[in-house]
Amino acid sequence: MPEKIYYCENEDPALWVVNYEEEKIPPYTLPDLLVCRDGKRISSSRDWREKRRPEILSFFEDVMYGELPGLPDEAEYETVSRKENDLNGLAVRREIRIHFRMKNGKSHFADALLFLPAKAEGKVPVFIGLTFKGNQVCSPDPSIRLTGLRGDAGGTDIKTAESLRGTHARRFPLKEILSRGYAILFASCHDFFPDRSDGWEESIYSLFYDKNELEKIQWERSGLSAWAWGISRLADLAQSIPEIDGTRLVCYGHSRLGKASLWAGANDERFSLVCVNDSGCGGAALSRRLYGETLFSMCRKYNMGYWFRRDFWEKSLHVEKLEMDQHGLIALVAPRAVAVHSATEDRWADPYGEYLSAYHAGSVYRLFGKTPLESPVQPPPGQPAGTDISYLLREGKHDILLEDFQQYMDAADRIFSSITQKRSEK
Ligand code: GCU
Repeated sequence: MPEKIYYCENEDPALWVVNYEEEKIPPYTLPDLLVCRDGKRISSSRDWREKRRPEILSFFEDVMYGELPGLPDEAEYETVSRKENDLNGLAVRREIRIHFRMKNGKSHFADALLFLPAKAEGKVPVFIGLTFKGNQVCSPDPSIRLTGLRGDAGGTDIKTAESLRGTHARRFPLKEILSRGYAILFASCHDFFPDRSDGWEESIYSLFYDKNELEKIQWERSGLSAWAWGISRLADLAQSIPEIDGTRLVCYGHSRLGKASLWAGANDERFSLVCVNDSGCGGAALSRRLYGETLFSMCRKYNMGYWFRRDFWEKSLHVEKLEMDQHGLIALVAPRAVAVHSATEDRWADPYGEYLSAYHAGSVYRLFGKTPLESPVQPPPGQPAGTDISYLLREGKHDILLEDFQQYMDAADRIFSSITQKRSEK
């Protein structure tokens, strides 16, 4: 038997083991967020915005995820259903099909589901995200249309889609969200990129590229960028809805969709708060720790490489050589608020690596006079920490639950009440 070694050191999957021991993490140095490619140190928020931020953004575009797709020539919002007294009068529910169209005749659609608080006074803030399967996972309600059939549920497999109804209801604490005055808007991630390696032809990329180009673009585009794009298109939709306050947008996501939420929030400055739940490797967690999942195993062993640019697969073997680590991705959100959550039993996602990443993004938040996380010591389970960068280690498994949403809404309350206060002071 060969000696067991870590993924990063050998390309042979048979030799890979997952490291769950802090002592076995290889020594690493994190790239300095405040030192530019030319070696100059920046010390102002202006230099961050003008010089350093574009460098870090370009790393994530040019090396890891690829640029987000462009805009379609046209987006039309078709309301396909309306329910006024949903959730015992708490909500107004709307199903909206977004038609993306190009002048050359190509088109694509995504099905969004919106819950608005029924008794709101004035315009409401909104949580925007993606679902793993169809929208019907959010509730057992049989009147919610089946969506998201383009993915592994199979093109026309209504039976499978129906069997998913309500299966993620715990991840949608709708009553609590609506009672606190927030709207929630989501669509299936499959509507933007079917979550499988051969999903390109059915993805949003098919709107912009011909079939024969889709193979080539995999080297510079990715599933995660398609999902992040989808979250931003939902933000466009939100901003067209009269009941929603288009200046109070929150993006959120769990796991692979937490990675997408962070990438969406890094790109789209309309999101005042970016909520990132159990996003792990390729999301909030530091790649250089090689604890739990690694970038290389994601790309090569578990066939999730399509979440990244194809030319990143080889580079992912040597995380120590990457120009940037994931604390840089969190820093791209600055000065807007970011809330990073982990779960105690979610070792695969490296909870401490997620915390450290949020902690190390702090140098950039400080440039803006914002409050970073104070200590490199991870707070104990159940004890939320921080404000502008906030963190929660939830007790339990890899999931997104009411406890997570409560903290996200607390973070949103903090931001939006200060915006309202500033407005009334003017
Ligand atoms: C897998 C994958 C993770 C991902 C997770 C999820 O576990 O390895 O990177 O976050 O799926 O999306 O549920």
